Amino acid sequence: MSKKVALVTGAARGIGLATAKRLQSDGWAIGMLDRDREALMAAVREVEDSFALPYDISDPEQVTRAFADLRSHHGRLDALVNNAGVADFGPIAETDFQRWREVMATNLDGTFLCSQAATPLLKSSQGAIVNIASISGLRASTLRVAYGTSKAAVVHLTLQQAAELGEYGIRANCVAPGPVRTKLAMAVHTQDIIDAYHDAIPLNRYGSEGEIAEAIAFLCSPQASYITGQVLAADGGFQATGVGLPALRS
Ligand SMILES: NC(=O)c1ccc[n+]([C@@H]2O[C@H](COP(=O)([O-])OP(=O)(O)OC[C@H]3O[C@@H](n4cnc5c(N)ncnc54)[C@H](O)[C@@H]3O)[C@@H](O)[C@H]2O)c1
Repeated sequence: MSKKVALVTGAARGIGLATAKRLQSDGWAIGMLDRDREALMAAVREVEDSFALPYDISDPEQVTRAFADLRSHHGRLDALVNNAGVADFGPIAETDFQRWREVMATNLDGTFLCSQAATPLLKSSQGAIVNIASISGLRASTLRVAYGTSKAAVVHLTLQQAAELGEYGIRANCVAPGPVRTKLAMAVHTQDIIDAYHDAIPLNRYGSEGEIAEAIAFLCSPQASYITGQVLAADGGFQATGVGLPALRS
């Protein structure tokens, strides 16, 4: 029997690259998709049994080509990890329509488009979708009108997918990461934001790419065969807490 195949979007670095490595270590073949071609080619060299899909998920035509490529490489798909994402923090008044659309185009439209394109293949394999949202999609904060709203929509998209695709044996789940020191986060996290996260997170630290990849790999795996429509916050306890944690800690 041929190897199980996973497609990971945004796989050139950060959480996506860690996920590709983690799944590969479990014996999966990996389609690594990213619009940053140069970084993607370097990343593919780090992951055995992987192949590059240099496409932009916000463009429907490129998504179609990516899935045609995937079919010609392997002809099967067992898990889709919708990880590619962009962050843009700004006040509501300064979030013009173009900034709003840029965030939605990748985080929401791209996740929708890839999932739709993957569905026929996932029906054949009774495969899994894992969407990557964020704690910003579970709890609101300032400056995240576009990012937080896009991620809340990804959470609900996951529930829609679970409801509709369950009858084909396709599971759809979501991982909502807390802060991880990737390029995406470090571009928008000031020192004040970093300190505030440490204060508000019971585990008192950022997560690592590998810790998020573990949650994603679990939801892709047969060990999660009766789990669908769930949101797993891999967030050091951030979502669990309310006011007063730093004061109570000291
Ligand atoms: N890092 C964090 O603190 C954090 C927290 C919560 C959620 N997340 C989510 O985790 C996911 C991965 O984030 P990361 O921190 O690893 O970011 P990252 O910026 O390190 O990596 C994201 C990758 O996605 C690619 N990408 C972006 N838009 C794309 C598009 N339209 N088409 C194809 N590729 C595209 C980028 O080129 C990049 O390689 C994102 O969805 C992000 O919103 C991250």
